[in-house]
Amino acid sequence: MISRPKGTNDIYGEEIEYWQYFEKAARKVAGVFGFQEIRTPIFEMAELFIRSVGDETDIVQKEMYTFEDKGHRLLCLRPEGTAAVVRSFIENNMVSEGLPRQVYYIGPMFRYERPQTGRQRQFHQFGAELIGSSSPLADAEMIWMSVFLLEELRLHRYTLHINMLGCQKDRESYKAALKDYYKDKLGAVCPDCRRRYETNVLRLLDCKVDACQPIKEKAPELTEFLCPECRDHKGQVSQILIENNIDAIWNTRLVRGLDYYTGIVFEVKYPFKETVFDLLGGGRYDHVIEQLGGNATPSVGFACGIERMVATMREEKAIAEPAALCQVFVLSIGEEAKKESLKITDFLRKRGISVQHDLMGRNIRNQLKYADKQRALYTIIIGEDELDKGVYLVKEMETGDQIEVESSWVENYILEKLTAL
Ligand code: HAM
Repeated sequence: MISRPKGTNDIYGEEIEYWQYFEKAARKVAGVFGFQEIRTPIFEMAELFIRSVGDETDIVQKEMYTFEDKGHRLLCLRPEGTAAVVRSFIENNMVSEGLPRQVYYIGPMFRYERPQTGRQRQFHQFGAELIGSSSPLADAEMIWMSVFLLEELRLHRYTLHINMLGCQKDRESYKAALKDYYKDKLGAVCPDCRRRYETNVLRLLDCKVDACQPIKEKAPELTEFLCPECRDHKGQVSQILIENNIDAIWNTRLVRGLDYYTGIVFEVKYPFKETVFDLLGGGRYDHVIEQLGGNATPSVGFACGIERMVATMREEKAIAEPAALCQVFVLSIGEEAKKESLKITDFLRKRGISVQHDLMGRNIRNQLKYADKQRALYTIIIGEDELDKGVYLVKEMETGDQIEVESSWVENYILEKLTAL
């Protein structure tokens, strides 16, 4: 027996219904915000992520599924969606169709991480990118869209964390201040922090090791290094959120795991059993397009992990009973009845009703059991007696009520019943 690779999942049965529910809601939200779907390849040139996500990040250093193809190209399974969208934006000259360009994607991403609750090697994201606006309104729009999605899914216990990372100049001065602060404390921090000190000093603020916390807490705050423009931008985003009743916690320690962010970044956290999920994360990435060879184009976006969303929805019982797998089951006993059942099945299917009939040669009791398992709303019962009388039985599955309906009227009867629901 060959099992699935570590860190991957089969999604089926009741769970797939939650996924479909999620995807429907996500597409609806994308639609009401005016975003169009984009589908980019599952693999890209590895260079794309090295140059955008950053070669010092964990994603690029440790987590990429990189491989050489037969033509000796260095490819990788995409670890995230933003860089691919940007590549596509530049390559397809989407700017010619006008800005802002608003796109969303749903699909698998790959990171070689240690699997645990809510963390997989193949996981799925729903993400959205708003390309071409530097306005605080664009930041607010993406935060608003994230919150709108959560509310649409009836997930109300989230906390939204937001931070202003400042422009490149602000970050340079902040990085210098951090370096200065940590310089004489390197003996007291973990080996990872010592490495980050050399490679990416901002990531020191992301350390979860207990021993590093007291030092981290006293580190200088980024806010002290913001230039007047960035302060103003932050103030405007804050104001728009307040005016639109979006509760946000300004968290000066929020740094994201990807290097391309500048300006506003945000994350949504959600309590899940004994832990807290990062459900969603995003922010502004004003320099990625030029880094990848396009013209300077300010952009902002976010992505959420669908596995985590679905797990949270299930935990919160955020959707009602899963929908019926078929609306109608046509039960038949005997050859003549089978022929009749196929006609009815065809008639109803052509009118958009989901119908199943017996494919297993089961007896009446087992056909009824199966119909129940499929959560059919109605079962039409056709046996020899019914054929003789020209009257079929229609059973309403939830109540168990049965009524007799003229054979020539049965399809219309079902249509009437279902449209009345
Ligand atoms: P990210 O924070 O790396 O951002 O990922 C976004 C979300 O994907 C996370 O909040 C989490 O829910 C989910 N996720 C990440 N890694 C895993 C994993 N190994 N297993 C399960 N779920 C995971 C990005 O990817 C950026 N591209 C977001 C963005 C879009 N920023 C701007 N535009």
